[in-house]
Amino acid sequence: MTETLDIKITKTNHSRLAETDFNNLPFGKIFTDHMFVADYVDGEWKNFQVIPYGEIGLSPAISALHYGQSFFEGIKAYKHADGTVSVFRPDKNAKRFNKSAERLCMPTIPEDIFLQSIAAVVDIDRDWVPTQADHALYIRPFMFATDPFLGVSPSSTYKFMVLLCPVGPYFSKTLRVKIETYYTRSAEGGMGFAKSSGNYGGAMLPAKKAVEEGFDQLIWTDAKDHAYVEEMGAANVVFVLDGTVLTPSTRDTILDGVTRDTVLALAREWGYPVEERRVSVAEIIEGAKNGKLNDAFGAGTAATIAPVGSISFNGEEYFLSDPKTREFSQRVFKEMNAIKYGTTPDTHGWNYIV
Ligand code: PLP
Ligand code: COI
Repeated sequence: MTETLDIKITKTNHSRLAETDFNNLPFGKIFTDHMFVADYVDGEWKNFQVIPYGEIGLSPAISALHYGQSFFEGIKAYKHADGTVSVFRPDKNAKRFNKSAERLCMPTIPEDIFLQSIAAVVDIDRDWVPTQADHALYIRPFMFATDPFLGVSPSSTYKFMVLLCPVGPYFSKTLRVKIETYYTRSAEGGMGFAKSSGNYGGAMLPAKKAVEEGFDQLIWTDAKDHAYVEEMGAANVVFVLDGTVLTPSTRDTILDGVTRDTVLALAREWGYPVEERRVSVAEIIEGAKNGKLNDAFGAGTAATIAPVGSISFNGEEYFLSDPKTREFSQRVFKEMNAIKYGTTPDTHGWNYIV
C-alpha cells in the first residue's frame, strides 16, 4: 500500500446539487460540483487538486488538440441502500489507462494515484450519486498533452483530470444494429485496444451514417476483410449462439472491456460454455437466420447490457427474440446490478468502497 496522496481540496461555495433535476439526466451533460486535476511536469505527477468544476485555461497550441495525444476511461459509482458508495472495478480501468498511455507515448500514472484521485473527488461529490434504479455516477478520468508546441513529438507536460456526471441508462431501447462492412474503427497495429480520443472521433461519421439509415448502432468488423465481428459502437459485443456464450477474443483492435470481463466471469461461474475467439459475421448471420442466435447484446460501462433487437447485413434485417425472454442477458444484467448496488454479496471483490 502506498502513501496517502497529498490532495489540495478547494470546495465550491455554490453547489448546483439542489437545482439539478435527477429525473432528467441526459448522459454526460450534467457535471457535479467538483473535478480532479493533476499535472505532469519535469517527469513526475504533482499538484494533486480537487477544485470546483469549471473551465480551464489552455494554450491553443497544446499538442492534444493538434495531434491527439489524449485518452480517457469510463467507470461508474453506485449508491447502495445504506448510503455506501462503491466504484465498480476501477483497478481494471487503472491498468487499461496505462496501456492507453503507453500506446500514445504518454506518461503512465501509478495505479494507487489513479484510485486515490477518483476516490477523493467521488467522496466530495458523494451526494451526487443517483439513487434511482439503473442510475449511477459516471466517472471520466482522462489525460491530455499540454505542451504548446506544433512539432510532432510527444509532449513533455500533461494533465490528468477526473470529471463526474450523474447518469441514467445510455440506451433506453432495444437496439437495431447493422454490421459495418466499409468503415473501420481500428486496424491491426493501430490503437483499437486503447481508449484514445481519436478512435471515437473516427467512429462518428460511420455512426452518424448508420443513424441516418435508421439504425441505432453499428457492429464493427475487422479492417482487412470485414468478415469478423469486433465490437458494437462504444461497447463490446456478446452473443449466445446455440447455448454458448460467445464474444470476439481481445486483440489489438479491440478494447478489453471491464463489463465484457465481468459478463464472462459470471457466465463461467454459472456453468455456461464460454468461447472467446474470432467470431465470423457468417456464423452470426446464419444463427440469426436459423434461430440459434439466442442472445446478442452490447456490454460496456455506459451501455451496461444493451440488448440487440435486430441485426442487418447486406440489406437484410434479421430479428432476434424479445430481450425480456432471453435467459442469459437478463440474468447477467440482474446479477451485475445486484453486485454494483450492494443487494448481493460482492464475493469477487469488485466493489471499491469510497
Ligand atoms: N469498446 C469500446 C470501444 C468502448 O468505448 C467501451 C466503453 O468503455 C467498451 C468497449 C466497453 O468497455 P468497458 O466495459 O470497460 O466500459
Ligand atoms: C464507456 O462506456 O465508458 C464509454 O467509454 C462509452 C462512452 C464513449 C460514452
